[in-house]
This record gives sequence, C-alpha cells and structure tokens, in this order.
Amino acid sequence: PEPGWAVDTDVVVVGSGIAGLSAALRYTQYDPRGRVVLVTKDTISNGSTRWAQGGIAAAIDPSDAPLSHMVDTMAAGAGMCDAEAVRTLVNEGPDALRWLVDLGTAFDRADDGALALTREGGHRAARIAHAGGDATGAEIERALIAAVRAEPRIEVIEHAFAPDLLLGPNPEYATRGAPAELPHAVCGVTVHVMGEGQRDGVGAVRAMAVVLATGGMGQVFAATTNPAVSTGDGLALALRAGARVRDLEFVQFHPTVLWLGPEARGQQPLISEAVRGEGAFLVDSSGRRFMEGEHELADLAPRDVVAKAIARAMESTGSPHVFLDARHFGSDTWRTRFPTILASCVEHGIDPVRDLIPVAPAAHYASGGVEVDLHGQTELRGLYAVGEVARTGVHGANRLASNSLLEGVVFADRIARTIAEAPPARTRPAEFDACAEPGLVDPAIVPELRALMSRHVGVLRDGEGLAAATGRLAELAGRAGASVEPGVAAWEASNMLTVGAVLTRAATERAETRGSHWRADHPEPAAGRRERVSVELRRGRLS
Ligand code: SIN
Repeated sequence: PEPGWAVDTDVVVVGSGIAGLSAALRYTQYDPRGRVVLVTKDTISNGSTRWAQGGIAAAIDPSDAPLSHMVDTMAAGAGMCDAEAVRTLVNEGPDALRWLVDLGTAFDRADDGALALTREGGHRAARIAHAGGDATGAEIERALIAAVRAEPRIEVIEHAFAPDLLLGPNPEYATRGAPAELPHAVCGVTVHVMGEGQRDGVGAVRAMAVVLATGGMGQVFAATTNPAVSTGDGLALALRAGARVRDLEFVQFHPTVLWLGPEARGQQPLISEAVRGEGAFLVDSSGRRFMEGEHELADLAPRDVVAKAIARAMESTGSPHVFLDARHFGSDTWRTRFPTILASCVEHGIDPVRDLIPVAPAAHYASGGVEVDLHGQTELRGLYAVGEVARTGVHGANRLASNSLLEGVVFADRIARTIAEAPPARTRPAEFDACAEPGLVDPAIVPELRALMSRHVGVLRDGEGLAAATGRLAELAGRAGASVEPGVAAWEASNMLTVGAVLTRAATERAETRGSHWRADHPEPAAGRRERVSVELRRGRLS
C-alpha cells in the first residue's frame, strides 16, 4: 500500500537494543544538528538486551590487556575471526565501557569503588563488568533509554514494523565500483505503525542512512534464550534488498538454559555463564563432572566446547538434560549476586541452594549476519548494520561470552562517526516496496518451522537432516501467497522462513565441524584453505 505519511530525517535506526540506542545517541553527539528516527517493532525496551545477564567484556583491569582479550576472542572464534575487527573491538572496548558508565549505567562496584569484574567461559582474565548482579542488560537498556528520551533530536516510534527498505538510484554506482547487482542505494524504510499516535498506519521514513539494529533470530528454533521479537527481521530485510550475509551457520547454543521439560517452547530462562565463572560446575545424571578432561579450562571452556560436551553427556546417559551444581554458593551469594536467576529457579520450583539445576543447550546467538566492514557499512550504499544482526568478523565461528554487548557499543560508535563525517549522498526512493517479496507465508507454519530447525539445524547437524530440512523449507516457501493477510505475524513468519532457509543453506555448505557448527558426518575441522572460507550468501545463493 502507498504510505499515508512520510517523514524526512538524517538517519533511521531500526531496533532499540544496545546497538540501536547507542547508534542513535552517538550520531546526535557527532552531528550537532543531526536528526534520527528510531523505529522499533514492540515497546522500546523489549529486545534481547534487557535479557543479557552475565555482562559486558572489556580489558579495563590494570592486570589485563586488550591483546589478552583479543587472544581469547580469536581462540573462541575457532580460526574464523577477522583479526582487524577483533583488534578494533578490544582496543575500543574500554572507552565504550566508560561511555556507558558516563551515561549513568550503574555497574556493580568492588569494595574499593572500582568496577567489579568476573569471568565467563573462554576468558582467561576477570574482565566482565556486570550490573544488578545478573541483570546487566536491563540496567544498560535503562540508562540508554533515559538518554535517548532526553535527546529531542531522536524521535522514537514504537510498535512500528519495518517490512522493507526504500531504494533509489545509487548516485555513485558508476564511479565507486559497486557490485553489478546493486545499482540502487538505500534511502529509508517503510513502516507499519500499530498504535494510535501521530504516526499511525503505513508510513515512510526517508533518510540518507538506515542502520539495522534488529538483533537476532533465535525464534526460528523451538527453544531459545531470545525474546519473542527475535525473528531475524533485519537479516531478511537485508537479504531481500540484495545485501550479502555471512557465517550464518554459526548459531551459538548457550550451554546452560534452564530445562523446563520436553514440551517447553519459545523463550527459556538463561542460567548465566557467570554462575560457572563464580565456581559452579556441571554434572551428568550420574553425578560425573564431565567437563574435567574435556578442556584445560574445564567448566569455563568456550561455549561451543561446553554445549557439545553437554550434548554428549545427555546422549550417553539418555537424559534430556544435565545439571549445574551451585549449592555451595549459599543463599546470600545467590540473593546478592544472581537475583534474576534465583527468581527464575524459584518460579519453577527449584531451590539452587539445595537442588541441582537441570540445564540443556538452547539457541542463543547468531555469530554471523549481514556482512559489514569496520565502519558497519554493508555493500549497499546507505545501509549499515550493527549488533547481533551484523557480521563484523569479531565472533568467527563462536562468540566469546559478553563480547556481544561490547560489539554493539563499539560498532554503533563507528557507524555514527562514519555517517557524521562522510555522509552518504541522499537519494530519493524510486518506488515504494521496491524490494518486497511477492507473497507472505501463513503464520500457522511457524511451529513446524521451529521444530524442523531444532531437529535438523540445531546443536548437532548432518547432511541427511540438512537435506530434509532444505526440502521441507522449500515446500513451506512454495505455499506463500497473496491470500495471506499482511500483519506482524505474517511478516515475522515470512522473515523466519527466509532466515531458516538461508541458515540451512550455509550449514549445508560447511562440510566440517568448526566452532558452534557441529556436523556428525564431518566431525573434524577441515584442514587448510577451507578453514578461512566464509559461507557468503546473497538472496539464498552462494555469491
Ligand atoms: C551469559 O550470561 O551467560 C550470557 C552472556 C553472553 O551471551 O555473552
């Protein structure tokens, strides 16, 4: 439909987690007259950030160094990290953390007033800052939202779904060596606002730059730590416009998610790695500490190592979960250090002072995403991506714990600075819905999609299962049609199907086991050249 209203701004940010809020704020700081419209499909605080428990990593302790943080990040990434991107992340990390402190984020403090720092899997130093014990994301989100609300040059539109990008002719197409298939530039988004405010219904936000900060896609799996809004919208939007995605096969499964029974679906409660960072350990149903001998860091091994060891322990004991033992913390430590997790356990009838906590892996984080450079810029002129939706190269095949909040702030800053210092040329949209898909899928397919993805494209994959998933996903896509009623449920279902299909394609292409991508039929990492080759896809094709 034609937009009923249109607004012109400088930058439109899609998404309101740490990455989107930081990009919006930073841009208004770098350009004293710059204006931002921030659209978010739910309420402003309702994204993944507020669920982040463990914290944000940065080498700020005098005994630590960015180089050590880099070594740990590269080791977790299993040969797939981009060294320049990691160097950027760790070097700019301490300033990013200080920016959050200056903004008013109330991080936990040690007795001497310095930031309290803890460890998590894969970190060889205590470098994780946290807030409210285990409510770090919620406190960061609170501080960022307060700052955004106080900035009159940022307009926030809630309940605003952005189904498509606006495209216009790329003014630099002939001169800047843009790929032949990308003659257009991005110049805004269409939005459907489901509210009763000033901007209601279908609208267009025209801007010189669009920053995708839409978060992850955990909801394509049956069980995930991600909230209901994490449906891969930005990834699907970028794919439809012809942008390239990379490393999608590297979905991180968090090892310790509270196990609530075989029928549990959707968002599940996370038991932070920081619990193991403070001394908890894993046991199987026969009481064996199975992480000993698995890795030199035992229970604090990188996340993929722990998730795989748990999957093996579950298989060997025939139990659908293992246990986390943190009884020795005692009730005071549980209450002060991990109040959120304690509340989740108690809500489900578990007293972690007396009981073992049943845990199993669940989908947690997309280490890949829309390919961007060190300035967060995609191949499409005017389109930037930041946070979980982006693939900067810092995570490689397996993200190091607590690097995601950090990545959001560091690269949001870089994007904002780049747009302010070298603004992309403005272009006008040639037509509305220029990159819309021909048909929407029926939201009724979503439970089957999730079950299929968890079964065949989950923690453990093989060629046969991936082929079965590919076939069925194609059948589901074939049912898309003009008869489906447009609306958030249909747009989300269509996006999840797009993302599921592309993820399955990437997992099929990578015939090896590496990082969080585990193939039963190719159980070893491939030697040589293969290890450096990223699976890059554009519109579902290998590019
Ligand atoms: C956790 O607290 O275990 C999650 C931290 C992260 O995903 O980086």
